[in-house]
Amino acid sequence: MAPADRPAVVVERPTTSDVPELVAIWWDAFGAEALQRIFPQTPDGRRFIERSFEKFLGPAPGPGEIRTECLVVRSPDTGVPASMAIYHIVPEGCSAAKRAWRARWPAFDDLSDLSDAVLNGFFSPMEKAHEHVVGDRGHVFLEVLATKKQFQKKGYGTALLRRGNDLADQLGVECYLDASVVGKPLYEANGYVERDVSAVVEKQVSASMLRPKKIQG
Ligand SMILES: CC(C)(COP(=O)(O)OP(=O)(O)OC[C@H]1O[C@@H](n2cnc3c(N)ncnc32)[C@H](O)[C@@H]1OP(=O)(O)O)[C@@H](O)C(=O)NCCC(=O)NCCS
Repeated sequence: MAPADRPAVVVERPTTSDVPELVAIWWDAFGAEALQRIFPQTPDGRRFIERSFEKFLGPAPGPGEIRTECLVVRSPDTGVPASMAIYHIVPEGCSAAKRAWRARWPAFDDLSDLSDAVLNGFFSPMEKAHEHVVGDRGHVFLEVLATKKQFQKKGYGTALLRRGNDLADQLGVECYLDASVVGKPLYEANGYVERDVSAVVEKQVSASMLRPKKIQG
């Protein structure tokens, strides 16, 4: 139960009509200059993030495919999404090609503000670390967690994180994520432990974190 002085946080699935607000969360949470060089805040950059959410919210895949679950917490005042998470439920034995960032994210060859080299430079070290830690074991992968600045520190991120943990526990699998400096304490408080990936990644900008399987019993 939520503490008496705090309203319960409701986690739900967004619809495609929420995509503009999901882009707004993305731009607000990931607006640092270094990130804007990867995900530019231009019309092309907006189209890429819109396309990404349209893909994440797309139809359920067939058996053996990665299933993506997009979740939000809405502002209690306006109903507009304030915080969002993107989880990928990766089945046991899923091929490296299906797990690759290029398979998870949409095509952008028609969007000239996006650079394949820059995006690959961003995703590729995380992909190597991810492969090193989890390989082809079935797991829940938290790819994105973001809360709009004005809604941070209200428990929304924690609620979305716990939903992913519950999902993994129901499936009896581990959870994996690449943590930013800002996000790491929150993940540690929710069962994630940093893993050493120095054998495969020289200069790490994010921390590779794994939450073990819940022991059934
Ligand atoms: C990381 C991030 C998603 C956290 O989202 P959030 O909604 O603020 O998360 P929470 O409110 O659940 O928890 C954040 C902190 O607020 C505290 N908190 C939670 N509810 C609170 C409340 N009602 N009152 C005061 N503090 C509260 C938590 O204890 C936590 O404390 P900590 O920072 O000392 O660990 C958010 O800071 C963000 O979007 N950052 C930018 C993007 C980013 O780096 N994302 C992570 C990528 S890996």
